[in-house]
Amino acid sequence: MAAVNKYVFPSNSTCYCAESITEEIMEIYSSLKGLKDDVIYQDPSNHLKTVFQRLDYLIAQDIDDESAEAILSNSEFNSALDVITRFRSMYTAKLEIEHTKSILKSSDSWEVLKNFAYLPNYLQLAQTEYQGAGLRPGDCVLFLGSGPLPISLIVLCHQYGLRGIGIEQEPDRAELSRRVLAKLGLSDQIRIIEGNHSTLPLKERTELIMVAAQAEPKKEIFDHLANVLPTETKISYRLYDKGLRRLLDTFYRYELPEPFEEYLRVRPKPPANNTVVFLTTNNIGYISTTDGQLSERCLTFNDEEMQDITQSPEIC
Ligand SMILES: C[S@@+](CC[C@H](N)C(=O)[O-])C[C@H]1O[C@@H](n2cnc3c(N)ncnc32)[C@H](O)[C@@H]1O
Repeated sequence: MAAVNKYVFPSNSTCYCAESITEEIMEIYSSLKGLKDDVIYQDPSNHLKTVFQRLDYLIAQDIDDESAEAILSNSEFNSALDVITRFRSMYTAKLEIEHTKSILKSSDSWEVLKNFAYLPNYLQLAQTEYQGAGLRPGDCVLFLGSGPLPISLIVLCHQYGLRGIGIEQEPDRAELSRRVLAKLGLSDQIRIIEGNHSTLPLKERTELIMVAAQAEPKKEIFDHLANVLPTETKISYRLYDKGLRRLLDTFYRYELPEPFEEYLRVRPKPPANNTVVFLTTNNIGYISTTDGQLSERCLTFNDEEMQDITQSPEIC
């Protein structure tokens, strides 16, 4: 672990060379490999927080897709990427559990929620999803992989007047999320179901089905959705594909099944890390974006709606 503690991040403008990135990834990997689940969840010496932050910093470096691809295709990384992705997913859940418990203990639950370090990322993503799916107040969205702190649904429902349904596979996380929703006064607006992708389809109509970046296994989820969803269902999913964020990509080289047509792809701009991809089982036109800027027009949205995607939102 000495290497992690000694590490000093260069300024954001510093140009990373392929060799130093490779070294950095391997150092992160060697601090994580062989760690048991309970060590990651408890992080007794708090040193994994540094690894998490270091990883966050690394993936956000301004590196183009081709250079990132050239670095990450190194076969040396085969096991490293799995270990790093698993760590990132578990540590995110750990942070959510801790923050949920703080909200539950607090007398000002909304104030504590607003202090969640990653809230700005979720505000950005929620705005992209609300606008990209053409949602309207009163619509219902379903989120697969809602977690212990269903922050995506909380933001979408609180900011945009939607109703939400979360599906969470871990019973204790589903229960914790119900408790935090009750504490925030959102139980009437957001319902949590304990289950997984096989729980779909629901009888209830939903305007958008959202798949969390950390919902797994991707192939099984999308193959299942392709079989059970009726035509004209809108789906959005979050993925890590811009620059070095691809280090966390679990979608890699997976081709979506036939019925899905991609109609919009919004690449992240800071603080968000996830690209949001919108699908439908019905072709309504394709547009793409570069760093949050739209490069082509979508047939279903006007320019004003689309430009809003690139503005930074705040919770109110
Ligand atoms: C840590 S959360 C992140 C989501 C975050 N809370 C949000 O609101 O955007 C990811 C959760 O997805 C759950 N999960 C992963 N795959 C799933 C699946 N196939 N079905 C249901 N839940 C899943 C995990 O148990 C984990 O709690």
